[in-house]
Amino acid sequence: MADRDPRDGTEADRLSEPEYRIEPWAGGDLPLLEQLLGDPAMTEHLGGPESTEKIADRHRRYLAPPVDGTEKMFKIVEAATGEGVGSVGYWEREWDGGQVYETGWMVLPEFQGRGVATIATAQVIEVVRANRKHRFLHAFPAIENAASNAICRKLGFELRDELDFEYPPGSENVLHCNDWRLDLGLIKR
Ligand SMILES: CC(C)(COP(=O)(O)OP(=O)(O)OC[C@H]1O[C@@H](n2cnc3c(N)ncnc32)[C@H](O)[C@@H]1OP(=O)(O)O)[C@@H](O)C(=O)NCCC(=O)NCCS
Repeated sequence: MADRDPRDGTEADRLSEPEYRIEPWAGGDLPLLEQLLGDPAMTEHLGGPESTEKIADRHRRYLAPPVDGTEKMFKIVEAATGEGVGSVGYWEREWDGGQVYETGWMVLPEFQGRGVATIATAQVIEVVRANRKHRFLHAFPAIENAASNAICRKLGFELRDELDFEYPPGSENVLHCNDWRLDLGLIKR
């Protein structure tokens, strides 16, 4: 009898399951968003915490039915517990005279440093690549946001430039950011 291939069967299935997955943002996710965006430490590189009203508005926007391929927010879920541990998503913006995708991510402090944001962003990259709508995906982390800059580097983004953003828009706050760009390849014609 041939030796059993260790990649066969339920053990292999279990080992190949990702520990963290992304799920579309849902009605019950407001408390998670409050934890992510209402906290001064979490928003240190994002211009500070948002007000309760702004977070509720943002939650409603995240829930709005998406026009396919234009934008989508996801909750990052720990597979073992089903617990929401962060957010990640993509949206469109005007850049360098054309339309591009932009991405951004947040992970609760107790789940940081385990590769969660990297795994979740890799899943978003698969989604936008499959959309075949825009060739480039950008990320604009603050220059001193070492973890976010490391994520861009690890996922194959190319560092293009440094720039200042007014963030939140309409505020006096200026964020000094890096412009990272990932080439997604083919788009639909
Ligand atoms: C940025 C953030 C999402 C990272 O989440 P995370 O799940 O801890 O990230 P990961 O574990 O996937 O990867 C972080 C990488 O940065 C590296 N890193 C972390 N701190 C670092 C530092 N001070 N210097 C250099 N690298 C650092 C880690 O070593 C890791 O790389 P490695 O896997 O090669 O070791 C999380 O810190 C966060 O939510 N911060 C607050 C919100 C925020 O700033 N969001 C980003 C807006 S662009």
